[in-house]
Amino acid sequence: MTDPKLPVLISAEKIQARIRELGAQISADYPQGDLYFICILKGACFFMTDLARAMKRDVSVDFMGISTYGKGKTSSGEVRLTKDLDISIEGSNVVIVEDIVDSGVTLNYLMHVLDQRKPHSIRIAALLDKPERRLRPVHVHYSGFQIPDRFVVGYGLDYAEKYRNLDDVCVLDAE
Ligand code: PRP
Repeated sequence: MTDPKLPVLISAEKIQARIRELGAQISADYPQGDLYFICILKGACFFMTDLARAMKRDVSVDFMGISTYGKGKTSSGEVRLTKDLDISIEGSNVVIVEDIVDSGVTLNYLMHVLDQRKPHSIRIAALLDKPERRLRPVHVHYSGFQIPDRFVVGYGLDYAEKYRNLDDVCVLDAE
């Protein structure tokens, strides 16, 4: 759906075009072997399902839930696992799929957790990246769009659980 009251930052057409590019790129990078997409709930499920369908090869999917305390302007850096994977990733190629990298606290924590499970390889795909907000180092291998430090909603991103099902990424903090 669209919301005519909200200014669009990235249109649905641009999002889908970029996802097709990312799908082709990731497919080319993993010509063989097993490949898991790990979707970080909840916001990334919209991106993950479109990215999986943009792939040119088979990909398996699983989900993780993460809760971060003290989010907002300053993150406390405390992260808790609320839902673990159903599968073992030992020896597998893994791509973590996120909707947005902000402070980097969530993905920095997750990389440490998943590294200990001895995957063959592990990379990050994030639709949106706000590099100027970074508190913890995170290497995003597959980045959709770098965006300025604005409060964005839509295409999975919420404000108080609203707006996730917008087709576009929109700005909520506009004057
Ligand atoms: C968002 C996003 C990332 C995290 C990024 O999730 O999906 O997981 O915040 O922020 P960080 O880089 O500062 O750690 P959120 O906690 O809003 O949960 P949600 O996806 O369920 O809305």
